[in-house]
Amino acid sequence: MKILVTGGAGFIGSAVIRRAIADGHKVVNVDVLTYAACLDNIASVSDAPGYAFEQADIRDAEAMAAVLAKHQPDTIMHLAAESHVDRSIDGPAAFIDTNITGTYVLLEAARAYWMAQGKPEGFRFHHISTDEVFGSLGATGFFTEDSPYQPNSPYSASKAGSDHLVRAWAETYGLPIVLTNCSNNYGPFQFPEKLIPVVILKALSGQPIPIYGKGDNIRDWLHVEDHAEALLLVLEKGELGRSYNIGGENEMTNLDLVRMLCAVLDRLKPGEAPYADLITFVTDRPGHDARYAIDPTRIREELNWRPSHTPETGLEQTVQWYLDNEDWWKALQARAGVGERLGVSK
Ligand SMILES: NC(=O)c1ccc[n+]([C@@H]2O[C@H](COP(=O)([O-])OP(=O)(O)OC[C@H]3O[C@@H](n4cnc5c(N)ncnc54)[C@H](O)[C@@H]3O)[C@@H](O)[C@H]2O)c1
Repeated sequence: MKILVTGGAGFIGSAVIRRAIADGHKVVNVDVLTYAACLDNIASVSDAPGYAFEQADIRDAEAMAAVLAKHQPDTIMHLAAESHVDRSIDGPAAFIDTNITGTYVLLEAARAYWMAQGKPEGFRFHHISTDEVFGSLGATGFFTEDSPYQPNSPYSASKAGSDHLVRAWAETYGLPIVLTNCSNNYGPFQFPEKLIPVVILKALSGQPIPIYGKGDNIRDWLHVEDHAEALLLVLEKGELGRSYNIGGENEMTNLDLVRMLCAVLDRLKPGEAPYADLITFVTDRPGHDARYAIDPTRIREELNWRPSHTPETGLEQTVQWYLDNEDWWKALQARAGVGERLGVSK
């Protein structure tokens, strides 16, 4: 199968591409290369015969039509987005622009292409989204595919908007779609502004490890390679028009997660004092959701998917990866805003 992947120079898109090529698929990677992109993420497959790269913006209708006409993909996985909640608080415009308008432009290009091709059987528009569209949970309960949308940040509201557009293009125009909403991802190649790399890199440099608020916010963590596997499974076997929640059933408070990372670092690269001594509580993020937790029953029962990484093995592998790949993250740390406290404006 030839898959057009948008956002393939980012964290999750690159994991999808590495996996898709390993599985024998062909891939066209469409990425405009924002501050969050890094082509090194797919260096291991960039010489593969089935891989092509197009630097193009999903908001550019002509460019999207041209890429589709040139490469004639069988199917589309849409991951390109502005993805950092803290940046969405400081500058929501880019999130509305890319995540909502960009998805609209891509949907229209996909619809025209699908119709021109004679509406082929296997074609799908797979939109990759987040559990953050469902808002925040209390101490109990889980997000299911039927949970109401209650986004709280500009980021999650823009992703909710794009989910609604995708659903509407299926209902109104019959575009064959599948949609996935996933919990927090971690793993190799995650951009150094996201929580887990921030913790590892602050610890390694002996700087305070910032924890928002009291650190009692709960997230459900999933290894990016498990997510990539689930996405390809939904693309190939998911029911048309259906959404699937993807999660690792690994709920942890941010404080417990950071302590766990510090313990792994104490083992893999012991310092003079325990890394947990660097933990520092800082002003909370405005609108910080208390708890996310996914009920993955649908994808487990319908598609027989289960994650293969546990937090213990996955976090250790991730810490080791950052220890082994200093050149990768040092180059990205030089980019604008990385390492600064963002998203405190109210
Ligand atoms: N990171 C998570 O934990 C998580 C969880 C669930 C869902 N998601 C979703 O998965 C997707 C990928 O997330 P990520 O963490 O890999 O993001 P990322 O920020 O690492 O990568 C996003 C990629 O999209 C590209 N991009 C941005 N705007 C573009 C545009 N206008 N045209 C073309 N390319 C553009 C960037 O250059 C970058 O390579 C996003 O849609 C995100 O909402 C992320």
